[in-house]
Amino acid sequence: MNKKLPTTLITGASGGIGEELARVFAEHGHDLILAARRKDRLEALGEELREAHSLEVHVLSADLAVPDGAVRLHSAIAQADLEVGILVNNSGLLAEGNFLDIDLEQHCQILDVNARALMQLTHLFGQDMRRRKRGRILNVCSTSAFQAVPGLASYAATKAFVLSLSEALAMENAAHGITVTALCPGFVQTEMTQKEDGGHMNQPMVPLLTAREVAEQGYRATMKGKTLYINGIGNRLVQTLVKHQPRWVWHSIGKIMEHRKL
Ligand SMILES: NC(=O)c1ccc[n+]([C@@H]2O[C@H](COP(=O)([O-])OP(=O)(O)OC[C@H]3O[C@@H](n4cnc5c(N)ncnc54)[C@H](OP(=O)(O)O)[C@@H]3O)[C@@H](O)[C@H]2O)c1
Repeated sequence: MNKKLPTTLITGASGGIGEELARVFAEHGHDLILAARRKDRLEALGEELREAHSLEVHVLSADLAVPDGAVRLHSAIAQADLEVGILVNNSGLLAEGNFLDIDLEQHCQILDVNARALMQLTHLFGQDMRRRKRGRILNVCSTSAFQAVPGLASYAATKAFVLSLSEALAMENAAHGITVTALCPGFVQTEMTQKEDGGHMNQPMVPLLTAREVAEQGYRATMKGKTLYINGIGNRLVQTLVKHQPRWVWHSIGKIMEHRKL
């Protein structure tokens, strides 16, 4: 008989990369717990995956921007007597533009979902995993974690937090049987990068990956227990170049580009 694969909790599975992660984990035979605010979308995805793969798929509505959102999600899963073997922290949001022009409340929500809730879920489910001496955590980070990004200031700052937290936790928990993976995609066309007029935010000059490709690579990196995975050779090349420049070079380029916008 086949050994049961760990049940996987995926936040932000109602669209984009999270939805594709759900499909990829399902194709590999993992039972799923899907969480996000748009429950109708999760129900539809759950239906599709149950039918296609004969899996258990649980759907939970969760707003991770509210202070107790992560704690409630953890309690709901415990009450349903479910065990999370793999935690995928994928929920995220961004606001593009000059930091001072964007409503402060929006920046706070970005911080709450991208950083605070991710840290809370990692702590809560991480403790359960440590008791069982096994578990995997996939934190969906971003290439914006590696340097400050004018126009995405608060978003990139939260991703720098996620990267640092994930790397530290990977080191702390290796001896406890828990792997922590920071997945760093570059630009991917999803609702997040869509503008109000239907077009997309400015795209970098590297070959783009689809949400599906990012999800497949994220699954492999998680199951191999990699600590860091940057999606795409173009993004890896750019990050290598950035890493080997003195920071003042990046600062000067950023200032010139921002000045040109005035
Ligand atoms: N697209 C890119 O270029 C890119 C690049 C690098 C990294 N990433 C990262 O990849 C992850 C997924 O992004 P995506 O591009 O797939 O964006 P997306 O299509 O907009 O999906 C974002 C997901 O986050 C969930 N979410 C947002 N606010 C939430 C809240 N308050 N509570 C719970 N869930 C919430 C959304 O669900 P509901 O609205 O239903 O709640 C949605 O399922 C994010 O962490 C993002 O930072 C994206």
